[in-house]
Amino acid sequence: MSSVPGRPQPPPHPDHAPGSRPAADRAGARIDALRPALPSPLQTVADARFARRGVRLLLKRDDLIHPDLPGNKWRKLELNLRAAAATGPRPLLTFGGAYSNHLRATAAAGRLLGLATIGVVRGDELADRPLNPVLARCVADGMRLHFLTRSAYRRKAEPEVREALRARFGDCYVIPEGGSNALAATGCRTLGRELRAALDPADGPHVVGVACGTGGTLAGLAAGLADHRQPADPATGLTIDPPAGQTAEQTIEQTAEQTAERATERAAGSGARPRAIGFPVLRGDFLAAEILALQTEAFGARVGDWELDGRFHCGGYARTTPELDAFAADFADRHGLALDRVYVAKLLYGLTSLVEAGAIAGGSTVTAVITGPAPAP
Ligand SMILES: Cc1ncc(COP(=O)(O)O)c(C=O)c1O
Repeated sequence: MSSVPGRPQPPPHPDHAPGSRPAADRAGARIDALRPALPSPLQTVADARFARRGVRLLLKRDDLIHPDLPGNKWRKLELNLRAAAATGPRPLLTFGGAYSNHLRATAAAGRLLGLATIGVVRGDELADRPLNPVLARCVADGMRLHFLTRSAYRRKAEPEVREALRARFGDCYVIPEGGSNALAATGCRTLGRELRAALDPADGPHVVGVACGTGGTLAGLAAGLADHRQPADPATGLTIDPPAGQTAEQTIEQTAEQTAERATERAAGSGARPRAIGFPVLRGDFLAAEILALQTEAFGARVGDWELDGRFHCGGYARTTPELDAFAADFADRHGLALDRVYVAKLLYGLTSLVEAGAIAGGSTVTAVITGPAPAP
């Protein structure tokens, strides 16, 4: 194991001492000041492969939410950052591979919020090599990197490994690999609620696709798509639970629209809820159980109509095939949108293949969640 220190941090102001109320309030206020652009835009795309089958294609542009915390990074981190700020604030410690978008986003969040960050990296063979652009960016944002052998990394949830990390780095707020925990799933529920509010039932049946790594995004998305709750309605007496970044008034307004929408939905007889399809980018069939565990922890049970289609991983994490490369290049030509090859390209490749194979019925609307931007060339 070895560590690379982040950018030297100035000594903390007494107000910033871990555990102090002003420090917690300040970190909370800084989170409020991040102001992500929500709800993210929903764009219609004219794609001949979809039109030929009578299917509409929409892109939910979550990649445009925030320059440093784009897409599912903001959705998964927000509630964790609030929890870390409220209980300390404590340094953030998290885990990821050498090309992890999540590590990079956590480092950026630390810089923006004035929180120390520690990134535990899979594989100590990287410790003595020049840092790749992702890890270099993490260090530039002040993250301290700690490299674990692959076998120690596999045991990262076990008490001895956690204790060794605590002995080395002190009391940290620990965020799991990929940022996926119950708070992350709860944050991603807002994504599903936004879509639920924006998708026109008359354009259904609706299919919403998302790329999956650890599954936290799909766990929350599916829950939000299924959400029928109504805040503070005197008739129902249900409580207000405004999505992040929204006031209760906005939520009531939005919910009133949703209620009207559901009435239209029922009247049109197309009452089917949006169906979510997750496209795992890793090989293996462990993910459904993990998503179920996340949903159970976050929401008490399996929620929403979701499934996984494991046929489009293209060889596994960060692997590609000539077909995937050709698909992504062609998509960029057709629509002027560069796709992240690790996640989003596999999602759109999967959705396009399903439509071309006739597996999604004519008359449907397919919404692809663009969970992150393509990396800069
Ligand atoms: C751009 C992008 N899309 C999708 C995912 C998959 O998200 P999850 O790990 O929640 O399944 C990730 C990883 O967080 C990602 O960086």
